[in-house]
Amino acid sequence: MTDLHSSLDRHIEDLLDVPSFPPPAAFVRQAVVTDDGVFDAAADAEEWWSEQARTRIDWATPFRTGCNDSNPPFFTWFEDGTLNASYNCLDRHVEAGRGDRVAFHWHGEEGEQRTITYAELLADVQRLANALRERGVRKGDVVGIYLPMIPEVVVAMLACARIGAPHTVVFGGFAPSSVAERLEVSNAVALITVDGARRKGRTTPTKAAVDDAIADLSDLHTVVVVRATGVTCPMTDGRDVFYDAALAAADPVCPADPMPAEHPLFLLYSSGSTAKPKGIVHTTGGYLTGVATTHSLVFDLKPDTDVFWCTADVGWITGHSYIVYGPLANGATSVMFEGAPDYPDKDIWWELIERYGVTIFYTAPTAIRACMKWGSEYPARHDLSSLRLLGTVGEPINPKAWVWYHTVIGGGRCPIVDTWWQTETGAIMISTLPGLQPAKPGSAGLPLPGVRAALLTPSGEDAGDDPGYLVLTAPWPAMLRTLHGDDQRYVETYFSTFGPRTYVVGDSARRDRDGYISIIGRIDDVINVSGHRLSTAEVESALVSHAAVAEAAAIGVHDELTGQAIVAFVTLRAGVESSAELEATLREHVAQRIGKLARPQRMIFVADLPKTRSGKIMRRLIRDVAEGRELGDVTTLGDPTVMAALQAQVVRP
Ligand code: PRX
Repeated sequence: MTDLHSSLDRHIEDLLDVPSFPPPAAFVRQAVVTDDGVFDAAADAEEWWSEQARTRIDWATPFRTGCNDSNPPFFTWFEDGTLNASYNCLDRHVEAGRGDRVAFHWHGEEGEQRTITYAELLADVQRLANALRERGVRKGDVVGIYLPMIPEVVVAMLACARIGAPHTVVFGGFAPSSVAERLEVSNAVALITVDGARRKGRTTPTKAAVDDAIADLSDLHTVVVVRATGVTCPMTDGRDVFYDAALAAADPVCPADPMPAEHPLFLLYSSGSTAKPKGIVHTTGGYLTGVATTHSLVFDLKPDTDVFWCTADVGWITGHSYIVYGPLANGATSVMFEGAPDYPDKDIWWELIERYGVTIFYTAPTAIRACMKWGSEYPARHDLSSLRLLGTVGEPINPKAWVWYHTVIGGGRCPIVDTWWQTETGAIMISTLPGLQPAKPGSAGLPLPGVRAALLTPSGEDAGDDPGYLVLTAPWPAMLRTLHGDDQRYVETYFSTFGPRTYVVGDSARRDRDGYISIIGRIDDVINVSGHRLSTAEVESALVSHAAVAEAAAIGVHDELTGQAIVAFVTLRAGVESSAELEATLREHVAQRIGKLARPQRMIFVADLPKTRSGKIMRRLIRDVAEGRELGDVTTLGDPTVMAALQAQVVRP
């Protein structure tokens, strides 16, 4: 065993020197795209996307207009067409005789299995859509969804889509107060939630926890509660109804209502550089075109034979696009897993790949690093030979984790697609096409057909070989349309630096001689913890809401496992003493206010924070101190003695 492992380690070390991995011949022979004619075909991006929209999506009214760019940065796509997203994800497959195809192999935490076909999904979606309508949910009304990874979350999203009620899914790991905040700012009229959620053998009472937080929401007239665990939950007469009772009482037929292509399909709140989350708005026709196209091209999808598994939570954009809308629009079969990767044991993912014959596996670098740390013996317990393609998303992947993934999980035969995109882009934008282009560990690859990207200097010149701001220079169908209720913030956040036709991503990146783009990191105050996006301002505002705290500065520091980790520098109010208990209290306070994922890894109590003369906290200097670097430019510092004191207080862990 030891010999085996050391030879594996040696093999991985050797592969670290390999700069590029061409697609294996066996993969190329069967691949969807093997010819770079696809890039020629996309020379006219608008025409190419229109062609994808016509061929991959069913329209109730065909569109005549591709992109309307007459009012940048407010672009529209296919605006004179109408369609229904749930029709495209369900009805058309059932009508084509594929109702018995498995949409999801659902696997519960305790090993329960449910097989859900397209026909079954359609039946439940129609009933829930009718139940929502009967309770007064109308086209355009926002519906909140706060559910764990259970099949009902898909039913909920598609039922909303069916009646034109934009959904806003809140990740189950967010705290009830974050749920309430999102429901309030989106004026949600209904919430679909659950009695309790399971996590590693423990059940938390979700409905009871969320009840207080939502009590004062004046627009919220309906709460639908899925009975998933049987924990008792309070129900408010007239407002709350159990999901199963609502479905049983509802009319089984609910024809899909065609929506204008630009009708909002969903809002998804994401962290920006202020404490207020951004309500990213996606619309129907363009989004569906983007996710269906990329799911097919990037994942080399053969819907009749593939079993696709995206391990993301449905509460993030990755789950929206590559668990729900992309795979279902394409008529694919997916695995959906309720639990954590290490429960009941650290081999559960590999067990599920073997059990369901997963062919395409899509996960995050942070998860790959955790699996690598747990050891190759866990995947070695299972037959992973069904896999033919691997993917990653959410953060840069370090070459060592890439090579481990390629060797240990992919058996050296599976290409890896490193997919770069964002909540805002809706769909994958930069990746290799796995049957056509070599993969380079650590680099996402090239802009996909129909995507135009550039790297610019701060003054807008081409950055050449140097790192630059990543920008997207042409509109694409799955792009966000605005921020909910805040057109001005939309323009300022994404289009104020280089004008209304140049979308500023917020990442810095560099490009190699072959045009491959490697992401370096964020250029704003957004932190990426385990592929989850958080804003420093949100963490700071949670900290200063505690009575003991005077000021706080949160920063992201490099972390071997999670990519980045949050370190919070805190000054206390006069008379408050720092202590280990206070640190624990404050960490918990942040978890309560935002969610566990925002809990700082480390808290450092300081007498003062470095500030500019105008009083702005100099995060860059704090980051230098926290990561033990030489201090950068300190000339703008208001009180230079602060840094010496700060450095003295920061003892590296
Ligand atoms: O910084 C980039 C990083 O994640 C950011 C987007 O975060 P979010 O909207 O939460 O969406 C994550 C899942 C799509 C990006 O601005 N990011 C995403 N994918 C990659 C990445 N960084 C490097 N490589 C990637 N493949």
